[in-house]
Amino acid sequence: MSSVAGPRLSALRFPATPTTPTPDGQRAALLADPGFGRVFSDHVAVASWSAERGWHDDAVRGAEPLVLHPAAAVLHYAQEIFEGLKAYRQPDGSVALFRPDLNAARFARSARRLSLPELPPEDFLTAVTELVRLDAAWVPDPPATLYLRPYTVATEAFLGVRPATEARFAVLASPAGPYFSGREVGLTLWIDPELSRAAPGGTGDAKCGGNYAAGLAAQAVAREHACDQVLFLDAVAHRWLEESGTMNVLLVTADGELVTPPLGTILDGVTRRSVLEIAAGHGLTPVERPVSVEELREGARTGAITEVFAAGTAAVISPIVRFREPAGEFTVGGGEPGPRTLALRAELVDLQFGRVPDPRGWRVPVV
Ligand code: COI
Repeated sequence: MSSVAGPRLSALRFPATPTTPTPDGQRAALLADPGFGRVFSDHVAVASWSAERGWHDDAVRGAEPLVLHPAAAVLHYAQEIFEGLKAYRQPDGSVALFRPDLNAARFARSARRLSLPELPPEDFLTAVTELVRLDAAWVPDPPATLYLRPYTVATEAFLGVRPATEARFAVLASPAGPYFSGREVGLTLWIDPELSRAAPGGTGDAKCGGNYAAGLAAQAVAREHACDQVLFLDAVAHRWLEESGTMNVLLVTADGELVTPPLGTILDGVTRRSVLEIAAGHGLTPVERPVSVEELREGARTGAITEVFAAGTAAVISPIVRFREPAGEFTVGGGEPGPRTLALRAELVDLQFGRVPDPRGWRVPVV
């Protein structure tokens, strides 16, 4: 796959041009109950790219509407990628990111897959860091976080189908509470018998908006069946577990394995990876292998599978306790969140919020 990064003139600095900040009282009211994805901080980090100039016009500035030509390629051919990561308020008042290098590397991989210009990982990290520094007052107290949404869109005004020669990068910051508010007791997933999220050779392992748009119809079917989310099966045999609408899926077995579908057509999630890496400390052996829907159904019935959970930046670790499918429904672990799920979540969240030592150096202080 060829890269369309264009000439590299210099490392970006994202210099700040502060705007008038939201008054303290108004910001405090917004931070008190931000929900997910509805409240935005005062600034955005931005940079432009063109085939001639490479990356340029980097800045952190007021969050203003984006002006696009109606023919901008992203509006027609969905040439777009994004990321999701969070800034966490630490016990001493400082702010840290969690493994942002993994997001930076994945963003570059997604760019290659979508024929967008690759933002060098060090520039991705500078953009995110400078934005969080300027908008540090928007980082809420735990358990809420400042969710960061980097993205690149193709902006060239051209209706032919080829990689655009102009693009814009931006990072939004959005104070966020729980993604599945009120459903901490456990999620119910709809196992969709028809609709797929990704196929071999497709874009399933890239973080691009099109994957999520294509998942909305299955999510709507899930809602019709009173489910919180959909569990996608593979596109060929409709048999192998892939991932849920916005999260990776992991299973705990009675013989002490933490099993998750292998990479390929699913997203290489930062939370998925982190959980696999701390599993041994919880007496669990991490295993990446295909899991069939029959194994899930049968394992839930016999107790060979004791717990199932979802992992994602937005969703953190969310227990899954029930599955519905056209033939009926079944529960896992007696329909209650399992102890391994809760222990893994507690360790992960303690690491992110700086409440336990960080021997692997996953926390990256920014303020
Ligand atoms: C994330 O967990 O950061 C995601 O990207 C999920 C999002 C689509 C809500």
